[in-house]
Amino acid sequence: MGATTGFTLSCAGQTIPAVGLGTVSDPRVDAETTRVAVLEAIKAGYRHFDSAFVYGSEKPVGEAIAEALRLGLAKSRDEFFITTKLWCTFAEGDQVITAIKMSLKNLQMDYVDMYLVHLPLRLTQQMTKSPVPREHIMPIDLKSVWAGMEECQNLGLTKGIGVSNFSCKRLEDLISFCKIPPAINQVELNPFWRQKELMEFCKAKGIHITAYSPLGAHGTKWGDNRILGCNVIEEIAKARGKTTAQVSLRWVYEQGASMVPKSFNKERMRQNIDIFDWSLTEEEINKINQLPQRKGSTLASTFGPHDLVLEIDADI
Ligand code: A2P
Repeated sequence: MGATTGFTLSCAGQTIPAVGLGTVSDPRVDAETTRVAVLEAIKAGYRHFDSAFVYGSEKPVGEAIAEALRLGLAKSRDEFFITTKLWCTFAEGDQVITAIKMSLKNLQMDYVDMYLVHLPLRLTQQMTKSPVPREHIMPIDLKSVWAGMEECQNLGLTKGIGVSNFSCKRLEDLISFCKIPPAINQVELNPFWRQKELMEFCKAKGIHITAYSPLGAHGTKWGDNRILGCNVIEEIAKARGKTTAQVSLRWVYEQGASMVPKSFNKERMRQNIDIFDWSLTEEEINKINQLPQRKGSTLASTFGPHDLVLEIDADI
């Protein structure tokens, strides 16, 4: 299985597996369901798991990895690439170390491979409802937060640091003052949201892109069927003896991005990692590149249509 195929991160010198498993479920599932799915994914060959404090998936990911090591499915922790993210309620310089230590405790690990600033936004209180009251939403002080992220790396709590949902403008700002540059920007990327400008910018700056929602997050409240039900992609899939999902994931891979498709289904997670022994033709790529563009996940749908939130949505 092609799970070992990966990309070298130019900033951190690490290798990130090209396909990892997304662990955010909507509607939420219980921890046991996530643990079983992660263990199944390890058996299928997955070595990258994308988690986040806010997903509630750190504990089950950690438990599944501990179990996999006990069962001998992997030899050591080093075989895995674990990503987790700093949630907005901890997006303050003096809280970053506390936050990563909480995540590490959840994961039962001494370090993660990649720690990402989840969003360029700060929340002053735990999110208890959606939309979030405007007074709880604040701009992020990126300088102090990033200093905290750099300290995490310097202390060995993470091997690499990066961001998620950052636009060219915000990355430009970050690059202007950082000591350690972001290794990764994790963003929505799929045939219906191709992110041309951001892809070119990140390539020029040596920032690797990881794609979330590479299948359009079908079944979640922020996703839909536009990719899995797309006639153009389906036609290509039929002609190549692949599934629509595999064509979409292969397209992401050929953009030079890694990806974290979410499937907790044994057959589909195996299918999603099996995309490395063929390639799309130029004609097929051109067809996909003509699909209409529409961003799937907006922050406004979760946080509410507040000024700061709409500004970020318009930016990425
Ligand atoms: P399931 O977990 O039941 O497989 P994304 O990765 O873009 O967030 O999309 C995730 C959604 O797509 C989930 O609802 C997942 O459901 C579904 N999915 C994942 N892989 C496939 C696949 N190969 N074929 C069809 N649906 C898939």
